[in-house]
Amino acid sequence: MSEEFEQNRVRDELVRLFSSTTEPVSGERLSEALHMSRTAIWKHIKALERVGFEFESAPRVGYRITRVPDELMGGLVEPYLRKDCQFGRPILFEPERTSTNVVANEYALSGIGHGAVVTTGVQTGGRGRQGRPWQSPTGGMWFSLVVRKPCALSKAADITLLASVAVRRALHRIGADVRIKWPNDILLHDKKVCGILAQMRTDGEMVDYAIVGIGINANFSRDALPSEVQPIATTLQTELGTSVYRPALFADILGELSDLYGQLQLGIGFSSVREEWLHHAHTIGRSIRVRLGETVIEGKAVDVDEQGTLLLLDESGSLQRVHSGEVLFTSDEHIG
Ligand code: BTN
Repeated sequence: MSEEFEQNRVRDELVRLFSSTTEPVSGERLSEALHMSRTAIWKHIKALERVGFEFESAPRVGYRITRVPDELMGGLVEPYLRKDCQFGRPILFEPERTSTNVVANEYALSGIGHGAVVTTGVQTGGRGRQGRPWQSPTGGMWFSLVVRKPCALSKAADITLLASVAVRRALHRIGADVRIKWPNDILLHDKKVCGILAQMRTDGEMVDYAIVGIGINANFSRDALPSEVQPIATTLQTELGTSVYRPALFADILGELSDLYGQLQLGIGFSSVREEWLHHAHTIGRSIRVRLGETVIEGKAVDVDEQGTLLLLDESGSLQRVHSGEVLFTSDEHIG
């Protein structure tokens, strides 16, 4: 853990130093600022180049940055991150990871603090709900938050519901008219553009910590997704016809999560945003089927209560309360 922390700290500091001036920065100045040898600096510059940064170097003058990638790296996100944001300090970026949820969980087990966020450019073993794989190509936003502030186990469902509200708000601000599919998928033009996977460790009646993994299909074409999910999934780039600047969007999402989880820590959870959730819900009013393990129940989704429970009017006219599960539409459309 400490090696990755140190690498991120140095890379972020280099990005800050280079971004603060249009003049070339000398190897000597970098070496003084970072308290390390010029050879060590050179290795970190090479690592930045592998992430997509480009530099112009002139002998005896130094390096000047000529290309900045839009990765979810601390040095690029920090300028957009609100000072009072409880998430994103630190941001631990690696160009490739198996799964940010798996890594964040390992870090949480070894004691990483509340607010740390694990990010990556590509996931080779991304995980979705129900044990499904989650395709995570270059250009997406793949990240996991470590949420350590205690909250009651009875509020655990709020953690995912609030995350979908946070993502919706931020995506709305960049012009994406997204809707929320219960419990926590984000749809754009009726296709899935974002998935959320929260995993928790409990301690008695409390959530010890939660790992909130969020995957947004951002700057890549829908064609990069496997053919079987293309009819039901999409990307921001495909729907908006343009790329988004991921560090700024990411910082905005973290700010929204910070506000909403701040309320949760005060004991105010989903109930405070229920009206907003309902206003942007995709599920309510539709005839749906919900898979609960091996069982499937069918009916019309009529409401979501203050606890985030889905209320379903079944064929016999009785109201079913669904606490967790997966919504399937009656057309057999399955948003996975
Ligand atoms: C779903 O099935 O809808 C949930 C998908 C969650 C994907 C994200 S991407 C970042 C984080 N790391 C993972 O392995 N999964 C989550």
